[in-house]
Amino acid sequence: MTTPGNTCVSVRVQGAVAVLTMDRPPVNSLGYDLRVGIADALDVANANPAVQAIVLTGTARAFSAGADVTEFGTSKGAKEPNLRVVIGLLENNPKPVVGAIAGQCLGGGLELAMGCHFRVAAPDAQLGLPEVKIGLLPGAGGTQRLPRLIGLEAALNMIVSGAPVAAAKFAGTPLVDKVIDGDLTAGAIAFAEEVIERKLPAVRARDRKVTDPQAEAFLQFARNTVGAMSKHFPAPMKCLEAVAASVGQSFDKGVAVEREGFLSLMASPESKALRHVFMAERAAAKIPDLPADTALRPIKKVGVIGAGTMGGGITMNFLNAGIPVVLLEMKQEALDKGLATIRRNYENTMKKGKLKPEQVEQRMAAVTGTLSYDGFADVDLVIEAVFENMDVKKTVFETLDKVCKPGAILASNTSYLNVDTIAGFTRRPQDVVGLHFFSPANVMRLLEVVRGAKTAPDVLATSMAVAKTIKKIAVVSGVCDGFIGNRMLARYGAAAQGLLNAGALPQQIDGALQGYGMAMGPFRMGDLAGLDIGWATRKRKAAEAGVELKPSVADKLAEAGRFGQKTGAGYYRYEAGKRDPIPDPVTEQLIADYRAANGITPRKISNDEVVERCMFALVNEGARILEEGIAARASDIDIVYLNGYGFPLHRGGPMLYADTVGLANVVRALRRFAAEPGADPSWQPAPLLVRLADEGKTFN
Ligand code: NAI
Repeated sequence: MTTPGNTCVSVRVQGAVAVLTMDRPPVNSLGYDLRVGIADALDVANANPAVQAIVLTGTARAFSAGADVTEFGTSKGAKEPNLRVVIGLLENNPKPVVGAIAGQCLGGGLELAMGCHFRVAAPDAQLGLPEVKIGLLPGAGGTQRLPRLIGLEAALNMIVSGAPVAAAKFAGTPLVDKVIDGDLTAGAIAFAEEVIERKLPAVRARDRKVTDPQAEAFLQFARNTVGAMSKHFPAPMKCLEAVAASVGQSFDKGVAVEREGFLSLMASPESKALRHVFMAERAAAKIPDLPADTALRPIKKVGVIGAGTMGGGITMNFLNAGIPVVLLEMKQEALDKGLATIRRNYENTMKKGKLKPEQVEQRMAAVTGTLSYDGFADVDLVIEAVFENMDVKKTVFETLDKVCKPGAILASNTSYLNVDTIAGFTRRPQDVVGLHFFSPANVMRLLEVVRGAKTAPDVLATSMAVAKTIKKIAVVSGVCDGFIGNRMLARYGAAAQGLLNAGALPQQIDGALQGYGMAMGPFRMGDLAGLDIGWATRKRKAAEAGVELKPSVADKLAEAGRFGQKTGAGYYRYEAGKRDPIPDPVTEQLIADYRAANGITPRKISNDEVVERCMFALVNEGARILEEGIAARASDIDIVYLNGYGFPLHRGGPMLYADTVGLANVVRALRRFAAEPGADPSWQPAPLLVRLADEGKTFN
């Protein structure tokens, strides 16, 4: 029978055992209706005099995957009974309760299971407390019950890492009284019957003790390790302190420490950032005007054009996913070099023990190098990664249009060029899309999926699915110069150059931004990428516009042959074979000369100003991108920056950072910059930003 008024938990009585089955698709997240359902079902089972023991179980997919994130911060999420109350009901239930666990048993789900008096589990059930990953700690008794069931060290490892562990590993501990192969429910009922028959004592986890004579020494060691590993993030240390409070103290005292830690983490900017990112990653996969059931085009074979920096990495993504690739180059030499680089990358991974020799061979066997388009007739997807030049792209796409089968997706990895123009080189613009990978393409997680004016819905949907297959996080961008990320980067770079001209040195600017949390400052990044690339682009653009290039500091460096790391000097100098940037008086003199030639009297610039200008330049361009509909939501922009540009995770992305600072404060600063004599017009605050600030709103 089903409990009245609630369809989430059914109750079935078999002999003296009541089986309570939670079924709240997809993963039994502990939303209000499930919480209330468990409480009601317990009442039903308790009221039935025939019932002497209870089994609480879920579905094959999940006992419960934890809190319902969609209820975070809503009235439903706060509605009683809360999870701690439900766990208390289980723990204090007059009839013994056996948790029967299959699939995911995570976070609040595991805390719920630990409220049962006994637990049985399928061997591969996944048990974990992943709260630390969103900057929290398990807040429903998990930090106290887990060490009481598996011991201090094992519990601490699980809670601080957040990683799930297979139930079979807990056989022999009170966390899993019995591992059940085969039919879990039948096994759980048999176990409950044994509890009744043998009158096994229903021990509450809270009444157990954490006994570990080495506890203090272990905790001291753990404090050092965790402290060193969790820079910027308070959660791991709070997890540790909460678990430490389980040693030699009452359960209630430990829970008080847990509670305090939980509430302080909940209010911390780091956890807000991590929760924002968690939701943002899920949101990015949803395309507002694309039906969720859009049929996908099958992708079984891929063609990649160009085996240079990007083409090689792109190829590896597909080989890793078991999808064969034909890789096209212009000359045998370039092809050999590209293939050799792929092999070397795999062999390096093998040397680290992460790939077996036969796997390397398997992957290399799945790539076919070619100098002709012959192998392209049956590819389902082509990704072009040739030189960033429209004429070259034109030839490639005209050829693809001729040789590829109907329905093949034709993608360009262009960084800046107009995808609609590229689509226009074919008679099938609906099949053309931008797939903008980041370097190194086999490592970086971000993929900008550039939607052209005519890109078909199923091409877009398939591109998103392909991203998932090759383990990328995809964000949809509209067509514009540089798409979301590089368009913003241009403003950020200009802000950094402006600071350099005005009085700061590369090492100060890089240091300030790295202090903020950026993985690498803009000048170190420039030296890494090569200063010749931007120089060539600027020269070409000036020539196209028929004007003379007015050299910037970057141009002066390049003119002097200082291309960055590859030539041993750029903004910094580098010792042979090393990558550490060393501040260079030659650069300082060059900057001083530039200032003198342009009538600039250098002023003292604070690190705060460096961060403010560079970040607000990003935010302002982000607002324009949002307003123009290039990005569907502010959180998509954050995902781009976090995954493609080394933006610090604990800040949650530039747009969330702006929200944290307060949009009115951002607008005030931008107006100040825009009012300076000779200021670049891009400092004018974007209309959307002004509107949101005036209305007291945020981006996210
Ligand atoms: P690259 O110069 O390292 O490689 C380009 C390769 O394409 C060369 O090996 C060249 O021989 C080959 N190629 C040129 N024309 C060809 C043709 N008609 N047929 C076959 N092969 C041809 O350049 P990279 O850096 O790999 O860039 C490729 C594309 O990816 C460009 O559009 C670039 O804007 C874009 N991109 C580059 C990123 C980077 O960090 N390098 C990041 C994201 C996108």
